[in-house]
Amino acid sequence: MAVQERTRARQDGRLRLGRGWRRTTLIVHIVSAGAWIGIDVIVAVLVLTGRFGTTGEVRGLAYQALATFIVWPMLTSALICLVTGLILGLGTRWGLVRYWWVAVKLVLNLVLCTLIVVALQPGMDEVNEYGRTFTAGAPEPAFISNLFFPPAVSLTALTFATVLAVAKPWGRLTRRTGGRLAERTRDA
Ligand code: HEM
Repeated sequence: MAVQERTRARQDGRLRLGRGWRRTTLIVHIVSAGAWIGIDVIVAVLVLTGRFGTTGEVRGLAYQALATFIVWPMLTSALICLVTGLILGLGTRWGLVRYWWVAVKLVLNLVLCTLIVVALQPGMDEVNEYGRTFTAGAPEPAFISNLFFPPAVSLTALTFATVLAVAKPWGRLTRRTGGRLAERTRDA
């Protein structure tokens, strides 16, 4: 199976990663996905501390830490995950839109990266200001946008992406080159 695929790739002129590069890229891919999930967990802890912390100072510091330290590491790990995923897709038999599980992960990764830039980052100044108000001992300010959604949505999507990566469900999205009918397969 692997030999047939290599031959087909050579005939198509497709890029193919050697074993060492594939392993290295896969390790970076998995570590970046793990880092991304870990950062989401930290976000959830900070949001919960900001909301239910025992003192105003603790709550304020949680919001300030959230606003100061989270977005760039999160975006960096998300982009590394995306780039290594693209390399793995293009450089292996999986392709980018050949199998459903890869295509869905690609969409999820792109949507989450967009949400970080468009929805999360622009609100961080407001969160910082909110935290400062608490730390200064002022009474609870009137308004802050709901911060529970970002970690909840992201953790759900990333857990789903991890399940897809491991289970590789739903088979092929496109027909095989060479005119053979599309087949549903879990192998690879
Ligand atoms: C959304 C975040 C993502 C997460 C959490 C994630 C997670 C993972 C994990 C845990 C694996 C290892 C699976 C295994 O070896 O059994 C994996 C492999 C893989 N991922 Fe991702 N991934 C993500 C995004 C992407 C994207 C955007 C692409 C492609 C555009 C992609 C393409 C691949 C491919 C092709 C493999 C298999 C590599 C191989 O076996 O050589 N992933 N992913």
